[in-house]
Amino acid sequence: MKTLHLHNTQPDIEKAAAILKDGGLVAMPTETVYGLAADALNGDAVRRIFEAKGRPMDNPLIVHVARFSDIERLHLVKSIPPKAQKLNEAFWPGPLTVIMEKGEVIPDEVSAGLDTVAIRIPSHPDAHSLLAVSGLALAAPSANTSGKPSPTSAEHVANDMDGRIDAILDGGRCSVGVESTVITLATDPPRILRPGIITREQIEAVIGAVEVDRAVLHKLENNEKAASPGMKYKHYAPRARVILLRGDDESYVTYLNRLYRRDRSVAALCYTEDKERIDAPCITMGSMEDEEQQAQALFDALRAVDKLDGVTTVYAHCPAATGVGMALYNRLIRAAAFEVIDLPKKRIIGLTGQTGAGKSEVSRMLAGLGATVISADEAAREAVEDAEVRAMLSAAFGDVLKADGTLDRQRVANIAFSTPENTELLNQITHPKIAAIMLDRAEKAASDVVFFDASQLFEAGEDVYCERIVGVVARQELRMERLLSRDRITAREAQLRMSAQFDEGFFLSMCDDILYNNGTREELYTEVRALYERSVSQ
Ligand code: TXA
Ligand code: MG
Repeated sequence: MKTLHLHNTQPDIEKAAAILKDGGLVAMPTETVYGLAADALNGDAVRRIFEAKGRPMDNPLIVHVARFSDIERLHLVKSIPPKAQKLNEAFWPGPLTVIMEKGEVIPDEVSAGLDTVAIRIPSHPDAHSLLAVSGLALAAPSANTSGKPSPTSAEHVANDMDGRIDAILDGGRCSVGVESTVITLATDPPRILRPGIITREQIEAVIGAVEVDRAVLHKLENNEKAASPGMKYKHYAPRARVILLRGDDESYVTYLNRLYRRDRSVAALCYTEDKERIDAPCITMGSMEDEEQQAQALFDALRAVDKLDGVTTVYAHCPAATGVGMALYNRLIRAAAFEVIDLPKKRIIGLTGQTGAGKSEVSRMLAGLGATVISADEAAREAVEDAEVRAMLSAAFGDVLKADGTLDRQRVANIAFSTPENTELLNQITHPKIAAIMLDRAEKAASDVVFFDASQLFEAGEDVYCERIVGVVARQELRMERLLSRDRITAREAQLRMSAQFDEGFFLSMCDDILYNNGTREELYTEVRALYERSVSQ
């Protein structure tokens, strides 16, 4: 099918109206996002919308009209509740959708078998013209391929729909950028099913208390029924994986910069203010200070992710879910398939270094000075007690449990360190849990600054949480000596252990501070004390 590209001239609007009256599909601009419109009272036409989008048939559509009086004129609803009247006066035409009991004329394709129908009066002048000139009620979901970000420009629509629909009416960029707020009046109190730029607070000022459906902010459990069927599907997703980072600005920037140093396949979905400070490729979603700008930029930003070469994961800074932020959060959390990482509220300082260099000595000195030191080795011992970790270890390495159900550590160690592949597997299973335990301890600590003592800080991915990282290094002969006297191993074994680790150059490039432990204990202590004082006084 050849898709006509139309503009907002009178002849073009008439052409689009004729297509719709004939049962065709036209993508139309609205102030929120582009809609894929068909005659709402023509079930066959509406079915073609689902085909073009690849949309599940159980997801109902919004019916758009030109004027409030059209709702009654066309018998779209059973009756108009007084609260709908009030919402109309306050917000229509505009980015609000109101669900009411449906009239008999509504085809099953539109309501997906529910006994309600969603109605909206858009304010975009071209949408208004198309509705007025055609005289139709238009069923229109967002004009994207199902699952992709909603389109906020004619170009976005063309990317998804060219060749699949009759026409695209180009009305420029959408000014709001996220879909309408959806509220149902079929419940008491009324309930917001999808947040938008019209906020809960604004609606409550007009009709009194409203609820926010649980699915707006939370992932539905498998047995929970979606009040709005659209909520249960994966949404707004670029091809790359999206992960939300929840925390303050500093920790967001730190996380990304640390990660980017060792992984070039990551990118940031960030506010304009942070772009300069982030080393990874950035896609901006507006100013931190301006939520409406963020809303307008959001879908364009999510689509832009797919244009970044070689990027497999994008880390978005998680907005606060209040006011307009609720709409942003609702879209992003779905784009992220509910994957959120909480950044630490504490200031974390990483302590790592070469084997035998004296990291443990530094750690003891810090503790002696009163610092909170969280040990990765201790966290590791706790991690393997975790039922889930134990189950994964059993699945990976065969029977590693003792008769009483506890872990046979010796057996795990024997198998895990027998080949590099097994070691890697062990790390994949335990590292996330170890990091989680350390972060949890950090949050529970009484002090604001905590030290992470971890020889595998980078390998385990704990580096990304660290405001600063301190590396302990020492000359090769000294490390060898210390290993030999401490661990009672042969020179060859010590050599093997040392060469399995990162070299000094690695620590010099990845750490912010280096402690050289080539001298006396007193000299080291002086350096450690200076480090401690610097860290806590910042
Ligand atoms: O801003 C918007 O609302 C855009 C423009 C084109 O108007 N439209 C839009 O439509 O976003 P769509 O189909 O992508 O999203 C409509 C949402 C879906 O989550 C759907 O499940 C829900 O509204 N919905 C529609 N009718 C419903 C009903 N009767 N009961 C519950 N939810 C309903
Ligand atoms: Mg949609």
